[in-house]
Amino acid sequence: MSVPFLLAPMAEVSHRALRELIEDFGGCDQYFTEMISAAPLINGGPFESWYTDAGPCPERVVYQIAGANPDRLTAAARLLDRNVCAGIDVNMGCSAPGIARAGAGVAWMASIDKARALIGRLRKQTRRRLSVKLRIGFEDNFDYLAAFCTSLSAEGVDFITLHPRTAKEKFKRKARWDYVSRLRAVLSIPVAGNGDIAGSEELVRRASGECDAVMIGRLAVRSPWVFAEARAIETARPVPADIDLESLGFRFLDLLGRHQPPEFHTSRAHRFFSYFCDNLTWSTWLKTSLYRETGLSAMSEVWRAYFRDHPEERRLRRKVPVL
Ligand SMILES: Cc1cc2nc3c(=O)[nH]c(=O)nc-3n(C[C@H](O)[C@H](O)[C@H](O)COP(=O)(O)O)c2cc1C
Repeated sequence: MSVPFLLAPMAEVSHRALRELIEDFGGCDQYFTEMISAAPLINGGPFESWYTDAGPCPERVVYQIAGANPDRLTAAARLLDRNVCAGIDVNMGCSAPGIARAGAGVAWMASIDKARALIGRLRKQTRRRLSVKLRIGFEDNFDYLAAFCTSLSAEGVDFITLHPRTAKEKFKRKARWDYVSRLRAVLSIPVAGNGDIAGSEELVRRASGECDAVMIGRLAVRSPWVFAEARAIETARPVPADIDLESLGFRFLDLLGRHQPPEFHTSRAHRFFSYFCDNLTWSTWLKTSLYRETGLSAMSEVWRAYFRDHPEERRLRRKVPVL
């Protein structure tokens, strides 16, 4: 086996239903949760039990916390520390305007001193592995990134995940993977790389390159079997048999119904299918049809009708050779 494979934190996506789906294929090494806002968590918001549900494998789940206020973030870490989990991660990379303008996510990268002070406080609140996920920063400046991460490491962060883009790039330009290896050369703690991996063969290639773990986001939603497929390629075992896309879609809707509150069903199904439909020929049409619907049963009907009209699409034809 090469380095660990991690599922990325993705708002509205990295929840229990997706983890269950990935586990059906054999799982990945660790699952980051979607970001959990510190304020509602410590104030007992109505949906917090859903955000903190670490099933089906809590010992491999890393809770990601987000927020701007150090007091609230430390209280959130203290609360989560009581749960069975693999670690606590701090979101210092999200550049969504609503998050960054509020002083959370990538906004932490504006000040080495503030970020260092936060990590120093968090370190005292949790015995769990403490990590930070971040971007390059506001500017394309490797020296600043290296100084920022060195100071976090000095305060006791156990590892860093780098999504090597600047704050304003969002998903523009290619992720600069050379920054991952450069950062790893500077730091004494492990560095995970993340960004733009498009298939299992690329995952295998990245995993044997210069990083300590590889994190996958959007590809794992489109292809929940990708981790299993990559491990099979690494060990020259047969890749999972042809994928039944129709059944997988129904399985996901069923898992959503069981593991998420009704208020979340529609938005989370839309998010999932915005990636998963890319496996299909008429994906744009199908996404538009699904987005028009609310509720799981209406979406199930659209899904069923698609495969009734296109039965040849049920099974995904493998692009990688079956050994
Ligand atoms: C829908 C969506 C939601 C995301 N939410 C989060 C989040 O909650 N926390 C975070 O650190 N990054 C978040 N990200 C960024 C991903 O974790 C990851 O860094 C990014 O998608 C690049 O990896 P990929 O190319 O493998 O998708 C999100 C990305 C997407 C697409």
